Amino acid sequence: MISPVLILFSSFLCHVAIAGRTCPKPDDLPFSIVVPLKTFYEPGEEITYSCKPGYVSRGGMRRFICPLTGMWPINTLKCTPRVCPFAGILENGAVRYTTFEYPNTINFSCNTGFYLNGANSAKCTEEGQWSPGIPVCAPITCPPPSVPMFATLRVYKPSAGNNSFYQDTAVFECLPQHAMFGNDTITCTTHGNWTKLPECRGKYQTMDLVNYPAKPVLYYKDKSHIWLPWMDHFPGWPRRNRSTKLGNWSAMPIFSLSASCKVPVKKATVVYQGERVKIQEKFKNGMLHGDKVSFFCKNKEKKCSYTEDAQCIDGTIEVPKCFKEHSSLAFWKTDASDVKPC
Ligand SMILES: *[C@@H]1O[C@H](CO)[C@@H](O)[C@H](O)[C@H]1NC(C)=O
Ligand SMILES: *[C@@H]1O[C@H](CO)[C@@H](O)[C@H](O)[C@H]1NC(C)=O
Ligand SMILES: *[C@@H]1O[C@H](CO)[C@@H](O)[C@H](O)[C@H]1NC(C)=O
Ligand SMILES: *[C@@H]1O[C@H](CO)[C@@H](O)[C@H](O)[C@H]1NC(C)=O
Ligand SMILES: *[C@@H]1O[C@H](CO)[C@@H](O)[C@H](O)[C@H]1NC(C)=O
Ligand SMILES: *[C@@H]1O[C@H](CO)[C@@H](O)[C@H](O)[C@H]1NC(C)=O
Repeated sequence: MISPVLILFSSFLCHVAIAGRTCPKPDDLPFSIVVPLKTFYEPGEEITYSCKPGYVSRGGMRRFICPLTGMWPINTLKCTPRVCPFAGILENGAVRYTTFEYPNTINFSCNTGFYLNGANSAKCTEEGQWSPGIPVCAPITCPPPSVPMFATLRVYKPSAGNNSFYQDTAVFECLPQHAMFGNDTITCTTHGNWTKLPECRGKYQTMDLVNYPAKPVLYYKDKSHIWLPWMDHFPGWPRRNRSTKLGNWSAMPIFSLSASCKVPVKKATVVYQGERVKIQEKFKNGMLHGDKVSFFCKNKEKKCSYTEDAQCIDGTIEVPKCFKEHSSLAFWKTDASDVKPC
């Protein structure tokens, strides 16, 4: 008795013997493609190996025909990545890369003072070209600075045509009778703009120190005294004592940048804040803006004295016309301040 399984197996063997052996799926070679790609091939069928886009082989593509033996011939095809042009050096900058081969990306950066004119990375394409193109590092420049009100440019020399390079500086000066707030020196920054411009303010302005814009030039001697560098250069600032009581730091002190007055007479007894004082002693370092004193005058008919006010207003104090200053030699004359009040 012949088993049906044996019959099936025998007919399979016969088929192989007549038709020859089939070729298996061809070997995978790196970066290559096979056309057509199937799981098996009849003897006589043709396949073509070629490199994937971005890869090249010395020998170009390879054709093979499935032989009767059912074994593909040895394939020596070698696909290697395309190499893009050398791009390892960027003037005034740096390139970060592993290789210049497809499909790698390289990165660019510029040294301080330069900016990237172009993309910060490029890819090696299938065609072996950099995309986008290689950038350049261009110097950072600042346009001519604008000049604040009441200021002039004391030092300024454009170094890049009409512009300035990164870290160039310019120096401002205030017009006479103006005080500078902020830094007189500006610097061209990496953003292509200048650091903060100073301000020049007229001496009649008041300022509040709490909102004073340029904190670095503010010096605290202690909690109750303050000194600002420009005070030394500002003739209107009280000469009596340049540190000024602030009372309470958290309160907003207002300073008047007005001139002080010289004592307008050689000597006189005056009333200041309700007290009789010798003006030449009390104000020997000058009177502050706003200081008010009362001079004594004589009423000749009634033989009595009265007072008239005088106030220091921004460097000027007008002595009342009725006030008579005695020569120190005229010792016999009675001073108005010693005469009974009217
Ligand atoms: C380029 O920059 C990218 C993004 O920052 C990063 O992922 C990549 O590793 C860099 N390549 C090189 C070669 O440094
Ligand atoms: C500088 O500015 C002047 C006046 O605006 C102009 O005539 C000159 O061409 C500029 N020079 C450069 C190098 O840009
Ligand atoms: C003023 O600016 C210059 C240059 O920008 C800097 O060197 C200096 O420290 C600044 N001065 C102050 C008081 O901030
Ligand atoms: C300069 O430009 C940068 C970036 O745009 C900006 O953040 C900065 O405030 C500018 N500086 C001044 C002083 O305007
Ligand atoms: C200014 O006044 C303070 C206290 O009122 C005093 O300690 C300081 O010595 C004075 N400075 C000058 C230069 O007179
Ligand atoms: C100073 O300011 C603080 C906080 O505002 C307040 O509590 C205190 O009473 C003030 N002192 C004077 C003397 O005004």
